Amino acid sequence: MDKLVVFGARPLIGEVKISGAKNAVLPILAATLLTDEPCTIKNSPNLRDTNTMIRILRSLGKNVEFDRDVIEVTSKANGKFTAEYKLVSTMRGSFCVLGPLLAKLNKARVSLPGGCVIGVRPVDLHLKGIEALGAEVKIEGGYVNAKAKILKGNHIYLGGEFGSSVLATENVMMAATLSKGKTIIEAAACEPEVEDLANFLVKMGARIEGQGTPRIEIEGVKNLHGAEHKVIPDRIEAGTFLIAAAITKGKITLNGVIWQHLLAVIDKLAQAGVRVKRTDGRMIVNAKTRLKPVNITTLPYPGFPTDLQAQFMALMAVTPGISIITEKIFQDRFMHIAELNRMGANIQREGPHSIVQGVKYLSGAPLMASDLRASAALVLAGLVAKGRTDISRIYHLDRGYENLEVKLKALGANVRREKE
Ligand code: UD1
Repeated sequence: MDKLVVFGARPLIGEVKISGAKNAVLPILAATLLTDEPCTIKNSPNLRDTNTMIRILRSLGKNVEFDRDVIEVTSKANGKFTAEYKLVSTMRGSFCVLGPLLAKLNKARVSLPGGCVIGVRPVDLHLKGIEALGAEVKIEGGYVNAKAKILKGNHIYLGGEFGSSVLATENVMMAATLSKGKTIIEAAACEPEVEDLANFLVKMGARIEGQGTPRIEIEGVKNLHGAEHKVIPDRIEAGTFLIAAAITKGKITLNGVIWQHLLAVIDKLAQAGVRVKRTDGRMIVNAKTRLKPVNITTLPYPGFPTDLQAQFMALMAVTPGISIITEKIFQDRFMHIAELNRMGANIQREGPHSIVQGVKYLSGAPLMASDLRASAALVLAGLVAKGRTDISRIYHLDRGYENLEVKLKALGANVRREKE
C-alpha cells in the first residue's frame, strides 16, 4: 500500500489542468451498455474508479481500450447481466449499471454496494424508480435481481429524505431511455454530472429534456446507437485546488474548468476573503489575504457540495474564529474530524453540525485516510501544517484524484508517494 508524505507551510503557486469528472465518466461508461455500437469517451480521468468500471464492462463482455484520456468501448455485451460483489463493493458508482442492464437485457443482477464509512447509503430510490417502470425487484444473497418483460414510462417522484439522489436519477433515466412511452422524473438530481450523462444519452439517440432541472422528461426509443462524448471537468477536483490555494495562501490558475459549476464554493470562498477570478474555462485564485471564518451547509446542487465539505473544514480549521459546518447529505460524513484534531485542530461534532474553532497552526502527524474526500482534506491540512505528515491508505485518494501528488508538486508542494 502507498502513503503520501507531505511537508507543509509552502504557498502553492502556478497552473493546474483539471481532469474529467469522475462522477460523470462512471455513469457515461455504464450507459455504453445501452448500445451494441462503439462509443468514444474523451477527457476521461485515469482513476481507480474509472478502471473498476472498465473491469465491470469487460466482465459483461464489452471490449474496452483506455489510451491517455480516451476510452473506446467496442463490441456488444455478451448477454451477462451480473455485476459482481467484488467489483461493485469497491465503489458505489458502479451501481449505475443496474438501469442500463435492465433496459437492454430486460434483467439485471447487481450486487448491493454495501456499507460505507460516510453513512448507510440506501438504494431505495433506485429500486422505487425502476419498479415504477415495471420491473420486478427482489433482493437475494446481497444482490438486486431485477427483471421486466417490458419497461413502461411512468410519472415518478424520486425525492428522498435527504433530497434528490444523483445515482438513482441516473439509473432511472438510463432505464427510461429504452422504455415504452414517456417517463417524467420529478425531484430529479440537478448535478452537472447528471446533465452530462443526459447529453451523452441524447447523442446516442435518446429523447431527453429538462436535464439539469428537477423535472426530466424522457420519451422512450427502440434503440440507441454509438456516440462520441467529451466528459465535463471535475468540479470537485477544481474545488479542492481552489481550497488548496486558500489554505496555503497561494495563487493558482485552474485550466479546463467550468466555473459556473462551482458558484456555491466561489461564494463561500469570497465570504472567507479569497478572491477567485473567472474567465472562459479558467479560474485564478489568489489567497494572499487574512481569512475570515464562514459557515457552510452542504446541499444538493447548486448548493455547497458534500464532496467538498471535508476540504473546506480543513481550511476553516486554520482560519481564526468559529465556523459551523452542517452536513445535510451524508450525516456521518465526519470521519476526518478525528484526524484533523490529531494535527491540533479544534473541531467538535454535534449531530449534523461541526463547530470549528480555528487554530493558529496545525502540526504534521501520521494520519489514516478513511474515504475519498476525507483523504483530500488531510492532504490539504498536511500542506499547511508545520513539519511532516504521513497519510496512509491513500488508495482512497487514487479512486477520485488523477495524479494528485504530481499536480501538487508542479505547484511547488513538498509531497511524495512512498510504499508503506
Ligand atoms: C453521488 C456521488 C457522490 C456524492 C453524492 C452527493 C457518484 C458516483 N457519486 O453519490 O460523490 O457525494 O452523489 O452529491 O456520482 N439516498 C437515499 N436513497 C437512495 C439513494 C440515496 O436515501 O436510494 C440518500 C443518500 O443516503 C444521501 C442522499 O440520498 O443521503 C444523496 O445521495 P445520492 O445523491 O444518492 O448519492 P450518490 O448518488 O450515491
